[in-house]
Amino acid sequence: MNYRHLFHAGNFADVLKHASLVLLIEALKTKDKPFAVLDTHAGRGSYDLMSDEAQRNPEFRGGIVKTLAADGPRLGALKPYLDLVRQQNLGQPALRHYPGSPLIAQALMRQDDRLILVEKHPEEAAALRRAMGRDARVHLHEGDGYERIEALLPPPERRGLVLIDPPFEIRDEFDHFARALVRAHRRFPAGVFMGWYPIKAPAAIAGFHRALKEAGLRRLVALEMMIQAPRDPARLNGNGLVIVNPPFAARAALEALPALLAPILGTGPGASGKFTELVGE
Ligand SMILES: C[S@@+](CC[C@H](N)C(=O)[O-])C[C@H]1O[C@@H](n2cnc3c(N)ncnc32)[C@H](O)[C@@H]1O
Repeated sequence: MNYRHLFHAGNFADVLKHASLVLLIEALKTKDKPFAVLDTHAGRGSYDLMSDEAQRNPEFRGGIVKTLAADGPRLGALKPYLDLVRQQNLGQPALRHYPGSPLIAQALMRQDDRLILVEKHPEEAAALRRAMGRDARVHLHEGDGYERIEALLPPPERRGLVLIDPPFEIRDEFDHFARALVRAHRRFPAGVFMGWYPIKAPAAIAGFHRALKEAGLRRLVALEMMIQAPRDPARLNGNGLVIVNPPFAARAALEALPALLAPILGTGPGASGKFTELVGE
Protein backbone atom coordinates (compact mmCIF):
# COMPACT_ATOMS: atom_id res chain seq x y z
CA MET A 1 0.00 0.00 0.00
CA ASN A 2 2.08 2.91 -1.28
CA TYR A 3 -0.57 5.25 -2.54
CA ARG A 4 -0.87 8.55 -0.70
CA HIS A 5 -3.43 11.01 -1.92
CA LEU A 6 -1.38 13.97 -0.64
CA PHE A 7 0.68 13.76 -3.86
CA HIS A 8 -2.47 14.23 -5.95
CA ALA A 9 -4.84 16.29 -3.79
CA GLY A 10 -6.74 18.97 -5.69
CA ASN A 11 -5.72 17.68 -9.11
CA PHE A 12 -8.05 17.62 -12.13
CA ALA A 13 -9.50 14.28 -11.04
CA ASP A 14 -10.35 15.59 -7.57
CA VAL A 15 -12.13 18.56 -9.15
CA LEU A 16 -14.48 16.37 -11.21
CA LYS A 17 -15.00 13.97 -8.29
CA HIS A 18 -15.54 16.55 -5.56
CA ALA A 19 -17.69 18.89 -7.66
CA SER A 20 -19.93 15.87 -8.40
CA LEU A 21 -19.93 14.81 -4.75
CA VAL A 22 -21.14 18.27 -3.73
CA LEU A 23 -23.93 18.15 -6.35
CA LEU A 24 -25.07 14.74 -5.08
CA ILE A 25 -25.08 15.74 -1.40
CA GLU A 26 -26.89 18.99 -2.16
CA ALA A 27 -29.50 16.97 -4.09
CA LEU A 28 -29.99 14.62 -1.10
CA LYS A 29 -30.56 17.71 1.05
CA THR A 30 -33.58 18.75 -1.00
CA LYS A 31 -35.61 16.31 1.17
CA ASP A 32 -35.87 16.70 4.95
CA LYS A 33 -35.37 13.02 5.74
CA PRO A 34 -31.85 12.31 7.10
CA PHE A 35 -29.32 10.43 4.97
CA ALA A 36 -25.97 8.69 5.43
CA VAL A 37 -22.81 9.06 3.38
CA LEU A 38 -20.45 6.06 3.27
CA ASP A 39 -16.93 6.82 1.99
CA THR A 40 -15.15 3.45 1.58
CA HIS A 41 -11.68 4.85 0.71
CA ALA A 42 -11.72 8.04 2.73
CA GLY A 43 -8.11 9.28 2.66
CA ARG A 44 -6.80 11.76 5.24
CA GLY A 45 -9.66 14.27 5.04
CA SER A 46 -7.60 17.42 4.64
CA TYR A 47 -4.53 18.02 2.48
CA ASP A 48 -1.79 20.59 3.08
CA LEU A 49 -0.87 21.83 -0.39
CA MET A 50 2.33 23.42 1.03
CA SER A 51 3.62 20.03 2.24
CA ASP A 52 6.70 18.53 0.54
CA GLU A 53 4.55 15.75 -0.90
CA ALA A 54 1.98 18.06 -2.50
CA GLN A 55 4.71 20.40 -3.75
CA ARG A 56 6.82 17.68 -5.39
CA ASN A 57 4.79 17.70 -8.58
CA PRO A 58 2.11 20.24 -7.74
CA GLU A 59 -0.85 18.58 -9.42
CA PHE A 60 -3.28 20.93 -7.66
CA ARG A 61 -2.09 23.73 -9.97
CA GLY A 62 -3.64 21.82 -12.87
CA GLY A 63 -6.84 21.23 -10.94
CA ILE A 64 -8.30 23.37 -8.18
CA VAL A 65 -6.05 26.39 -8.90
CA LYS A 66 -7.22 26.53 -12.55
CA THR A 67 -10.85 26.00 -11.53
CA LEU A 68 -10.82 28.77 -8.93
CA ALA A 69 -9.22 31.10 -11.49
CA ALA A 70 -12.00 30.32 -14.00
CA ASP A 71 -14.78 30.93 -11.46
CA GLY A 72 -17.64 33.05 -12.76
CA PRO A 73 -21.30 32.82 -13.80
CA ARG A 74 -20.56 29.94 -16.22
CA LEU A 75 -19.41 27.80 -13.28
CA GLY A 76 -22.54 28.55 -11.23
CA ALA A 77 -23.14 24.84 -10.54
CA LEU A 78 -19.70 24.61 -8.95
CA LYS A 79 -20.25 27.51 -6.55
CA PRO A 80 -20.97 25.39 -3.43
CA TYR A 81 -17.82 23.33 -4.09
CA LEU A 82 -15.58 26.34 -4.75
CA ASP A 83 -17.04 28.23 -1.77
CA LEU A 84 -16.23 25.24 0.42
CA VAL A 85 -12.60 25.25 -0.74
CA ARG A 86 -12.40 29.00 -0.14
CA GLN A 87 -13.86 28.58 3.36
CA GLN A 88 -11.10 26.10 4.24
CA ASN A 89 -8.57 28.79 3.34
CA LEU A 90 -9.99 31.85 5.06
CA GLY A 91 -7.16 33.99 6.38
CA GLN A 92 -4.56 32.19 4.24
CA PRO A 93 -2.53 34.36 1.87
CA ALA A 94 -2.69 31.61 -0.76
CA LEU A 95 -4.51 28.36 -1.33
CA ARG A 96 -3.16 25.94 1.27
CA HIS A 97 -5.80 23.51 2.54
CA TYR A 98 -7.63 21.23 0.16
CA PRO A 99 -10.64 19.35 1.59
CA GLY A 100 -10.95 15.65 0.82
CA SER A 101 -14.27 13.88 0.41
CA PRO A 102 -14.83 13.33 4.20
CA LEU A 103 -14.36 17.02 4.99
CA ILE A 104 -16.61 18.02 2.09
CA ALA A 105 -19.38 15.69 3.29
CA GLN A 106 -18.97 16.81 6.90
CA ALA A 107 -19.22 20.48 5.91
CA LEU A 108 -22.43 19.95 3.90
CA MET A 109 -24.27 17.50 6.17
CA ARG A 110 -27.09 18.52 8.44
CA GLN A 111 -27.53 17.80 12.15
CA ASP A 112 -29.21 14.40 11.68
CA ASP A 113 -27.23 13.16 8.69
CA ARG A 114 -24.37 10.70 9.26
CA LEU A 115 -20.97 10.09 7.73
CA ILE A 116 -19.30 6.66 7.78
CA LEU A 117 -15.65 6.59 6.78
CA VAL A 118 -13.35 3.64 6.06
CA GLU A 119 -9.59 4.06 5.54
CA LYS A 120 -7.08 1.22 5.46
CA HIS A 121 -3.76 3.02 5.81
CA PRO A 122 -3.09 3.54 9.57
CA GLU A 123 -1.30 6.88 9.12
CA GLU A 124 -4.01 8.21 6.85
CA ALA A 125 -6.68 6.97 9.26
CA ALA A 126 -4.97 8.77 12.17
CA ALA A 127 -4.74 12.01 10.16
CA LEU A 128 -8.38 11.56 9.16
CA ARG A 129 -9.42 11.25 12.81
CA ARG A 130 -7.66 14.53 13.58
CA ALA A 131 -9.17 16.27 10.55
CA MET A 132 -12.74 15.30 11.45
CA GLY A 133 -12.46 16.46 15.08
CA ARG A 134 -15.14 15.55 17.61
CA ASP A 135 -18.33 15.14 15.66
CA ALA A 136 -20.99 12.66 16.81
CA ARG A 137 -22.29 12.43 13.23
CA VAL A 138 -19.01 10.91 12.00
CA HIS A 139 -18.06 7.21 12.38
CA LEU A 140 -14.56 6.22 11.38
CA HIS A 141 -13.39 2.65 10.72
CA GLU A 142 -9.78 1.75 10.11
CA GLY A 143 -9.89 -1.21 7.73
CA ASP A 144 -10.64 -2.46 4.24
CA GLY A 145 -13.46 -0.58 2.56
CA TYR A 146 -14.20 -3.40 0.11
CA GLU A 147 -14.55 -5.88 2.97
CA ARG A 148 -16.67 -3.61 5.16
CA ILE A 149 -18.99 -2.20 2.54
CA GLU A 150 -21.70 -4.89 2.75
CA ALA A 151 -21.85 -4.93 6.55
CA LEU A 152 -22.30 -1.13 6.55
CA LEU A 153 -25.23 -1.24 4.13
CA PRO A 154 -28.06 -0.47 4.04
CA PRO A 155 -27.79 2.44 6.46
CA PRO A 156 -30.63 2.66 9.00
CA GLU A 157 -31.71 5.92 7.35
CA ARG A 158 -32.43 3.95 4.11
CA ARG A 159 -31.30 7.05 2.21
CA GLY A 160 -27.81 7.89 1.25
CA LEU A 161 -24.74 8.04 -0.89
CA VAL A 162 -21.86 5.59 -1.18
CA LEU A 163 -18.54 6.87 -2.53
CA ILE A 164 -16.04 4.26 -3.75
CA ASP A 165 -12.74 5.97 -4.52
CA PRO A 166 -9.93 3.39 -4.58
CA PRO A 167 -6.29 4.20 -5.38
CA PHE A 168 -6.05 1.84 -8.39
CA GLU A 169 -2.62 0.64 -7.28
CA ILE A 170 -3.41 -3.05 -7.73
CA ARG A 171 -3.65 -4.57 -11.20
CA ASP A 172 -7.17 -5.96 -10.96
CA GLU A 173 -8.64 -2.98 -9.12
CA PHE A 174 -11.33 -2.52 -11.81
CA ASP A 175 -12.60 -6.06 -11.06
CA HIS A 176 -12.60 -5.52 -7.27
CA PHE A 177 -14.31 -2.21 -7.78
CA ALA A 178 -17.04 -3.57 -10.09
CA ARG A 179 -17.72 -6.52 -7.79
CA ALA A 180 -17.87 -4.28 -4.68
CA LEU A 181 -20.21 -1.84 -6.38
CA VAL A 182 -22.56 -4.60 -7.52
CA ARG A 183 -22.56 -6.33 -4.10
CA ALA A 184 -23.15 -3.03 -2.31
CA HIS A 185 -25.96 -2.09 -4.66
CA ARG A 186 -27.69 -5.42 -3.94
CA ARG A 187 -27.67 -4.56 -0.22
CA PHE A 188 -28.91 -1.01 -0.83
CA PRO A 189 -30.73 -0.77 -4.19
CA ALA A 190 -32.22 2.65 -3.41
CA GLY A 191 -28.83 4.17 -2.62
CA VAL A 192 -26.91 6.64 -4.73
CA PHE A 193 -23.49 5.22 -5.62
CA MET A 194 -20.55 7.08 -7.08
CA GLY A 195 -17.27 5.41 -8.06
CA TRP A 196 -14.16 7.10 -9.43
CA TYR A 197 -11.81 5.55 -11.99
CA PRO A 198 -8.68 6.59 -13.89
CA ILE A 199 -8.59 6.66 -17.68
CA LYS A 200 -5.21 5.83 -19.13
CA ALA A 201 -6.22 3.90 -22.25
CA PRO A 202 -9.97 4.37 -22.91
CA ALA A 203 -10.28 0.83 -24.34
CA ALA A 204 -9.77 -0.60 -20.84
CA ILE A 205 -12.88 1.21 -19.63
CA ALA A 206 -15.32 -0.49 -22.00
CA GLY A 207 -14.93 -3.83 -20.21
CA PHE A 208 -15.55 -2.19 -16.84
CA HIS A 209 -18.74 -0.51 -18.07
CA ARG A 210 -19.84 -3.78 -19.66
CA ALA A 211 -19.35 -5.67 -16.38
CA LEU A 212 -21.59 -3.19 -14.56
CA LYS A 213 -24.28 -3.38 -17.24
CA GLU A 214 -24.18 -7.18 -17.35
CA ALA A 215 -24.53 -7.32 -13.57
CA GLY A 216 -27.96 -5.73 -14.03
CA LEU A 217 -27.34 -2.25 -12.62
CA ARG A 218 -29.96 0.24 -13.77
CA ARG A 219 -30.06 4.05 -13.71
CA LEU A 220 -26.34 4.03 -14.38
CA VAL A 221 -24.50 7.01 -15.85
CA ALA A 222 -20.84 7.86 -16.51
CA LEU A 223 -19.12 11.24 -16.44
CA GLU A 224 -15.77 11.22 -18.22
CA MET A 225 -13.19 13.92 -18.76
CA MET A 226 -10.01 13.59 -20.80
CA ILE A 227 -7.40 16.30 -20.21
CA GLN A 228 -5.44 15.25 -23.30
CA ALA A 229 -5.55 12.69 -26.08
CA PRO A 230 -4.58 9.26 -24.67
CA ARG A 231 -1.40 8.93 -26.75
CA ASP A 232 0.64 7.56 -23.86
CA PRO A 233 -1.34 4.80 -22.10
CA ALA A 234 1.04 4.93 -19.11
CA ARG A 235 -0.26 8.38 -18.13
CA LEU A 236 -3.40 9.53 -16.36
CA ASN A 237 -5.00 11.07 -19.45
CA GLY A 238 -8.42 11.43 -17.96
CA ASN A 239 -10.81 10.16 -15.35
CA GLY A 240 -14.36 9.10 -14.92
CA LEU A 241 -17.18 8.56 -12.48
CA VAL A 242 -19.93 6.00 -12.58
CA ILE A 243 -23.06 7.00 -10.74
CA VAL A 244 -25.97 4.72 -9.94
CA ASN A 245 -29.35 6.33 -9.16
CA PRO A 246 -28.30 9.94 -9.82
CA PRO A 247 -30.88 12.13 -8.03
CA PHE A 248 -33.12 14.10 -10.35
CA ALA A 249 -32.17 17.38 -8.65
CA ALA A 250 -28.51 16.91 -9.65
CA ARG A 251 -29.03 15.42 -13.09
CA ALA A 252 -28.78 18.52 -15.31
CA ALA A 253 -25.67 19.83 -13.54
CA LEU A 254 -24.00 16.40 -13.69
CA GLU A 255 -24.76 16.14 -17.41
CA ALA A 256 -23.10 19.50 -18.06
CA LEU A 257 -20.10 19.09 -15.74
CA PRO A 258 -17.53 17.12 -17.82
CA ALA A 259 -17.88 19.37 -20.87
CA LEU A 260 -17.76 22.44 -18.63
CA LEU A 261 -14.54 21.38 -16.91
CA ALA A 262 -12.62 19.91 -19.87
CA PRO A 263 -11.68 23.26 -21.48
CA ILE A 264 -10.55 24.60 -18.07
CA LEU A 265 -8.53 21.57 -17.00
CA GLY A 266 -7.38 20.30 -20.41
CA THR A 267 -3.65 20.33 -21.02
CA GLY A 268 -3.56 19.69 -24.75
CA PRO A 269 -5.42 18.67 -27.89
CA GLY A 270 -7.98 15.98 -27.24
CA ALA A 271 -9.32 17.47 -24.01
CA SER A 272 -12.99 16.56 -23.85
CA GLY A 273 -15.83 15.79 -21.50
CA LYS A 274 -18.86 13.59 -21.91
CA PHE A 275 -21.85 12.33 -20.00
CA THR A 276 -23.22 8.93 -21.00
CA GLU A 277 -26.32 7.14 -19.85
CA LEU A 278 -25.03 3.55 -19.70
CA VAL A 279 -28.34 2.04 -18.56
CA GLY A 280 -31.66 3.86 -18.25
CA GLU A 281 -34.65 3.27 -15.99
C1 LIG B 1 -7.94 8.17 -3.81
S1 LIG B 1 -7.63 8.11 -2.11
C2 LIG B 1 -9.12 8.65 -1.38
C3 LIG B 1 -9.43 10.10 -1.53
C4 LIG B 1 -10.70 10.55 -0.87
N1 LIG B 1 -11.83 9.68 -1.16
C5 LIG B 1 -11.03 11.95 -1.28
O1 LIG B 1 -11.74 12.14 -2.30
O2 LIG B 1 -10.60 12.88 -0.61
C6 LIG B 1 -7.69 6.40 -1.75
C7 LIG B 1 -7.49 6.06 -0.29
O3 LIG B 1 -7.84 4.68 -0.10
C8 LIG B 1 -6.97 4.12 0.87
N2 LIG B 1 -7.07 2.67 0.66
C9 LIG B 1 -6.36 1.85 -0.14
N3 LIG B 1 -6.87 0.61 -0.15
C10 LIG B 1 -7.96 0.63 0.68
C11 LIG B 1 -8.94 -0.34 1.08
N4 LIG B 1 -8.91 -1.58 0.60
N5 LIG B 1 -9.90 0.06 1.93
C12 LIG B 1 -9.95 1.32 2.41
N6 LIG B 1 -9.06 2.28 2.08
C13 LIG B 1 -8.08 1.94 1.21
C14 LIG B 1 -5.65 4.75 0.60
O4 LIG B 1 -4.82 4.71 1.75
C15 LIG B 1 -6.07 6.19 0.21
O5 LIG B 1 -6.07 7.02 1.34
